[in-house]
Amino acid sequence: MKRAATIFMFILLSAGVFAQVRTDGPVVAIDTKGMTVLLEARGGEPLRYLYIGERLDSADVGAVPAAGAIRMDAYPAYGQGNIRSDALAVTHWDGNMSTEMAVSSVSIENSEDASTACILLKDRIYDFYVKVFYKAFLDADMVETWTELTSLEKKPVLLRRFDSAFLPLRTGNVWASHLYGSWANEGRLVQEPLERGTLLIENKDGVRNSQTSHSEIMFSLDGKPLENAGTVLGAALCYSGNFRLEVVTDDSDYHKFYAGICPDNSSVSLGRGESFRTPELAFTVSGEGLGGASRNFHDWARAHRLAHGDRERKILLNSWEGVYFDVNESGMAEMMSEIAGMGGELFVMDDGWFGEKYPRVRDRSSLGDWKVDRNKLPHGLGWLVDEADRNGIGFGIWIEPEMTNTVSELYEAHPDWIINAPGRDVVQGRGGTQAVLDLGNPAVQDYVFGIVDGLMKECPGIDYIKWDANMSVSSHGSSWLPADRQSELNIRYHQGFAAVCERIRAAYPDITIQACASGGGRANYGVLPWFDEFWVSDNTDALQRIYMQWGTSYFFPAIAMASHISAVPNHTVGRVTPLKFRIDVAMGGRLGLELQPRDMTDAEKMQCRQAIADYKKVRPVVQFGDLYRLVSPYDGLGVASLMYCSKDKSQAVFYWYRTENFYDSHLPRVKMAGLDPDRMYTVYELDRIGESALPFEGRSFSGAFLMSSGLEMPGGFSGRLGGYSSRVLHLVAEPR
Ligand code: DGJ
Repeated sequence: MKRAATIFMFILLSAGVFAQVRTDGPVVAIDTKGMTVLLEARGGEPLRYLYIGERLDSADVGAVPAAGAIRMDAYPAYGQGNIRSDALAVTHWDGNMSTEMAVSSVSIENSEDASTACILLKDRIYDFYVKVFYKAFLDADMVETWTELTSLEKKPVLLRRFDSAFLPLRTGNVWASHLYGSWANEGRLVQEPLERGTLLIENKDGVRNSQTSHSEIMFSLDGKPLENAGTVLGAALCYSGNFRLEVVTDDSDYHKFYAGICPDNSSVSLGRGESFRTPELAFTVSGEGLGGASRNFHDWARAHRLAHGDRERKILLNSWEGVYFDVNESGMAEMMSEIAGMGGELFVMDDGWFGEKYPRVRDRSSLGDWKVDRNKLPHGLGWLVDEADRNGIGFGIWIEPEMTNTVSELYEAHPDWIINAPGRDVVQGRGGTQAVLDLGNPAVQDYVFGIVDGLMKECPGIDYIKWDANMSVSSHGSSWLPADRQSELNIRYHQGFAAVCERIRAAYPDITIQACASGGGRANYGVLPWFDEFWVSDNTDALQRIYMQWGTSYFFPAIAMASHISAVPNHTVGRVTPLKFRIDVAMGGRLGLELQPRDMTDAEKMQCRQAIADYKKVRPVVQFGDLYRLVSPYDGLGVASLMYCSKDKSQAVFYWYRTENFYDSHLPRVKMAGLDPDRMYTVYELDRIGESALPFEGRSFSGAFLMSSGLEMPGGFSGRLGGYSSRVLHLVAEPR
């Protein structure tokens, strides 16, 4: 190895600037407000972790090695030394399958909002380089880490595994909390102790990567997961495609956590001078349990990882469950007037509005033909946008731009634009005809950008786009990729998707975009920089939504969780729940409606009008406040409860849901959290129905009392309305 490569390039931060990332001899210290990562970067040796945990006092930094430091390779590579599981596996130009990386240099870069360490590693004998990045945010307890792999070898090398990161977790009583699910049952929480063996969490759908397993995980390091106590390390892989989270528990003192793109059937070829950047793994450490880690994710998301994270979301009516494909002009106009009448702020026309040669009357045709169906909408989209404007609301539209149907003008013109194995029958999805466009292909990228660009140019007044994606990659083949790069198809797809999203945001920075993918298939931090929110699930049943929203809230803030009031019997599960219960559950996220107002009684409309007015009062608290989960629906106590507190603790919104109705059941009294113990809060019920006020309506209690005793919730309405009762309370602190 060249001598020069062993020289460190330490760029010290100027005096007076809070040192987020700094070096001290070979030690690289990465600090956020609440966490510290220490690395040892000695020239010519592997990059090693020393410490990952709660924030260290600078006095302790030097002593950590003596206390028993981690001393494990920070980016372990396959083939030399530890031949177990590895973050990186490369076949070099001459067929050598081993890699041995050593530190070459360290640099630090400071920007307005973050400080980033870059540690350059070089293989001991090959011209193969890895840059390992750690980005610490000034205003969020989060570190993002990723790598950049570069080959200067004479012939192409093959990347067989290329994780974003490796994190060692000291063994002990460590529990993992992560999300699983299926269509209409997304975001379910599972909590399990880490036992000997391998915990593998992965997704290989190709398009929708959070319908089943999620690419986020929390580790409770001090035993069984607790909401508000214990040290928790939370991690989220910021990627929209196939991923793998792997936790190996073997005979060593550390659980080994690897996170990255799923490498199965996805090896990447790197020519001389080419680089590959892995997606970021964002991780946080909190000493305030799962809740603390969630709040860290929410703050970071709103500030850095979610489109318009600082902008209040509009209350909308989406047409899907109201009319499905039965879109027509007078029907849309009527829905707009109804939602405006209820105080809503936006109307979204879902599927069914497009297709000339092949009108979209059901799901078996027309994707790709984004021209308005004049039989249904004779005056075109512009008229609808104007009609929304006349009603004083915004207009939104549904598209599914990454897809086509084999029954479409697009497919007739470009049969080679779909993903399918060469020479094989086309695998067709939804409606028996759906296919995925090959987004790796730049021509397809131009076309997909053109869909949004065309719509926006035709109707600049469009305020919101619901971007759907309803099929997986089900046949492996691209007519655009060369034969020796076919394995890159899935990765190229998501690189293409990112490139399109970048172009859309550059051209249309202000529009609101929802990520929908057969429901909650795109709840991930890979897409959220370009999307304002995601559709949590196609299942709008309030009871099941409590479970799904609970799980989803581990990683995602309420502002990003689209949550709609729908009709009963619920269209997915057939359950009948009271309108108040449906309202109260939807009010826990970004409130919307998903029904046909024409089918509502005047009293129901009045109730929704009241709910919308009430939601507007607390919207800033829900969308920008701190979440405290109080009683988990997964604990089977017959009740679920959570609350949001404004950052200055001057207001809070408390939610209480009765999830079971058993005769002689005794529900727990819920203690609140997150309030200022020394302030007095006056309690007002929201979404109130019935004549009698709760005994504590308008009364004031100290934050200390509310957090140590809580308020007794009457089971209320359970007999009359079938058991699903709920309460939402607005707590307002008296001025100091
Ligand atoms: C699937 C989505 O999840 C639904 O909300 C709806 O938009 C339909 N697609 C429309 O086809």
